[in-house]
Amino acid sequence: MNASVTYMGLNRTVLVEDDASSLLDISLDNQIPHMHECGGYGRCTTCRVRIVEGSQNLSRRNRAEQEMAQSRNWDPTIRLACQTYLKGNVSLQRLIWSMGEVNQLQKELAPEGKAEERSIAILFCDLRNFTSLSSANLNFDLAFMLNKFYTALGEPILMNNGIIYQYVGDEIVGVFGTTGGNREKNCTDAIRAALGMQFALSRLNKMELEDFKVELKSGIGINFGKAYVGHLGHPTHRQFSVIGDPVNVASRIQEQTKVHNARILISESVLKGIREQDVEIARSFKTLLSGKENICNLFEVLGFKEMDMKLELQASLHQLLEDQERFASLFYEKLFQTAPSVRALFKRDMTEQGRLLTHMLGGLVYSMSRPDYFHSGLKNLGINHQKYGVKPEHYPIVKTVLISTIQEVLGEEEDGNSKVLSAWSEALNVVLEAMKPLPE
Ligand code: FES
Repeated sequence: MNASVTYMGLNRTVLVEDDASSLLDISLDNQIPHMHECGGYGRCTTCRVRIVEGSQNLSRRNRAEQEMAQSRNWDPTIRLACQTYLKGNVSLQRLIWSMGEVNQLQKELAPEGKAEERSIAILFCDLRNFTSLSSANLNFDLAFMLNKFYTALGEPILMNNGIIYQYVGDEIVGVFGTTGGNREKNCTDAIRAALGMQFALSRLNKMELEDFKVELKSGIGINFGKAYVGHLGHPTHRQFSVIGDPVNVASRIQEQTKVHNARILISESVLKGIREQDVEIARSFKTLLSGKENICNLFEVLGFKEMDMKLELQASLHQLLEDQERFASLFYEKLFQTAPSVRALFKRDMTEQGRLLTHMLGGLVYSMSRPDYFHSGLKNLGINHQKYGVKPEHYPIVKTVLISTIQEVLGEEEDGNSKVLSAWSEALNVVLEAMKPLPE
């Protein structure tokens, strides 16, 4: 077979001879970053593409893909790259490319036209000094700052399997568990997101907003309970909606952060959902929330008691990948110095190879909060690396070199980077172990 795949947006066409490769295999063989969280087993949908031209030149949808497409109302142009095979020329777009798109993916699983009750954690995050900021800054600057705020603080929600549900004025609302997950996971994800938001805010103040001479502050309230989740509204304009008393209560809890001068407050139902011994609680309050008749107990969260690997990875990722090219070139420089013989395994363009590396690292951190797909994704990654000639003895070298690169890019922090480094070390142990080929 002689056919081609053109990647729109990337402006790249690759030639394909092997008709046994799926569209996903073609991307990976050509070092084109392509999300494939479940490892190509047709379960996660992150590899989906839109076929812009040449859909007649593809294999038909198999049963798994058909069911997936039906449940998510996909039009015929959307295909699962890992389940689709090439018969002639096509042009396509990769659809899941950033955290924002993953957000969309999670909303798809909400029921259409009716709401279903689901057990979720709801997080309200308020920008504290918004009114004084509005009067002291030009509208243009204010919009710039708000955008930075929304972006930086939205990411921890997405990183922890949550959905950015709404922006209400100067508030971000995140929900966790709309697509399932047990109480402990949903509540822990929400707390980790809240702590990640604190890191993101301090980074924002220190780095990107330095010139504005402002210090943004936030207050976060989290509640857990059964809410109705669905796509509601006029038939021509349905919107993803989350409704119910637990949502209102979460908003009221956030209001209490001002009263008690606390950064993160959680309800008793969140506390009951987590392993209490894991979380550092500073204070607790008995409060009457506005519009409620019963006194409620609130707890101020300071952090996790022990090092939380996922939080450390998430909080360091931005800094590590701020200059992706630098990270990748440092890594490969160190790798080829440490193990010159592996240089022969890299036959293609090293800039593209670098992009693949940083895309993969970001994907790994994100996938850790989605355990359903994590191991199958890693297994497949291992199989692909084996195909490229990677051997089990290369794995410890990769780990040492990655840690050394991370250490160099992070530089010297006042409080040292020991927690971040041990989190990355622990994560790489898990990742590389899962990628190792099984003994023959
Ligand atoms: S569905 Fe294709 S990679 Fe998961």
